[in-house]
Amino acid sequence: MDGIQKTGICQLRLTQFRSYESATLRLNPSFEPVILTGHNGAGKTNILEAVSFLTPGRGLRSARLADVARRAEDIVPDGVDVLPARWSVSATVQTPCGVVQVGTGTVDGSERRQVRIDGKPAAKQSDLGQVLRCLWLTPAQDRLFCGDPVARRRFLDRLVQAFDGQHANRLSDYNAAFKQWSCLLREGRFDTAWLSGLEQQMVETGVAVAASRLDVVSRVSRYLSVSEDPLFPTAEICLTGVVEQALLTQAAVDVEDQFFDRLRRSRKVYAEGGSLAGPHTADFKVIHKQKNRDASLCSTGEQKALLLSIILAEMRAQLQEQGMCPLLLLDEVAAHLDSRRRNTLFDILCDRPTQVWMTGTDTETFGHLEGRASFFDIRESEISLQKAA
Ligand SMILES: Nc1ncnc2c1ncn2[C@@H]1O[C@H](COP(=O)(O)OP(=O)(O)OP(=O)(O)O)[C@@H](O)[C@H]1O
Ligand SMILES: [Mg+2]
Repeated sequence: MDGIQKTGICQLRLTQFRSYESATLRLNPSFEPVILTGHNGAGKTNILEAVSFLTPGRGLRSARLADVARRAEDIVPDGVDVLPARWSVSATVQTPCGVVQVGTGTVDGSERRQVRIDGKPAAKQSDLGQVLRCLWLTPAQDRLFCGDPVARRRFLDRLVQAFDGQHANRLSDYNAAFKQWSCLLREGRFDTAWLSGLEQQMVETGVAVAASRLDVVSRVSRYLSVSEDPLFPTAEICLTGVVEQALLTQAAVDVEDQFFDRLRRSRKVYAEGGSLAGPHTADFKVIHKQKNRDASLCSTGEQKALLLSIILAEMRAQLQEQGMCPLLLLDEVAAHLDSRRRNTLFDILCDRPTQVWMTGTDTETFGHLEGRASFFDIRESEISLQKAA
């Protein structure tokens, strides 16, 4: 780690964000872990969400921007919430390329969030990814392997974004084209030219999305094969899906031709209520290697340890291949982890050249980090420094 410039936030400022009218958090520039503790509803996850908005996307809650603006405490008599015209999150960030000021937020309740980098409006939100990257785990992901594949694809797509800055745009273009294609067919509107145009768009974007996902699965797999610690299981990861499987053995142009052909041949069946397999139905499969068991059959703690193994491998991949380590946001990190695993995780994280933000309801959970982390106490959305590192 010597010689590697750490990445982290030196100062974070929130205005009209969730439960915070206004708050400033000043952090030690040596970027030890940041521990936020407080009772339920104190405002811990809101801080992590604010940090996540300093990267492209909809943040760690996948929220609608309008829900993020601070709501007045009292609902006015006619039952309509009073929303402030704007909310913002800004930060001073130490990156491998120097100190950068970033800010984001909305103006006049708009559904588009504005981004400023070093005081200048950024052309696109994805420019944030050049300054700061974040990975996170939230309690909602604790059962990721047992739930809907949509959540697993979203988890994987976040890992992909760091290696392919165009991934999110391609994915949203694919989804938009598929939605239109699906609507046309289900409404019985067989407009051939329109359908062909949409199929072309689905093929171009869909095959590229599948290829980027496969590429990241293979990159992360390389780092997963070197275990961090025996307490963190080795995860074997793969992608299932027709397009993805085809890309493993055939050239992308051939897979595009096949997908195009399949789309045209599926029109009638789909219009009659059939389904269509594509990148929108792919699944991210994880196996606990030591136990040779599908992650969905592992215990809750084992599933969390598998997720952490994948996140730690992705961090190493980003650091080795891109020279930049993402910030890590771990909400309710202690949930489901026994104390040995928790403390081992803390030791691993202290060794990473990045800032790790963790929340919990009790300070005692983080006792192993005393003297090595900054502890903040949050009460009713008031933040106070308890113990500096
Ligand atoms: N847009 C909003 N405006 C005002 N308050 C909000 C808004 N969105 C969420 N809140 C409130 O912010 C408070 C703090 O939420 P947060 O999720 O940060 O709590 P927490 O400290 O993480 O609690 P827990 O330990 O239960 O996870 C909650 O009472 C929540 O209802
Ligand atoms: Mg919370």
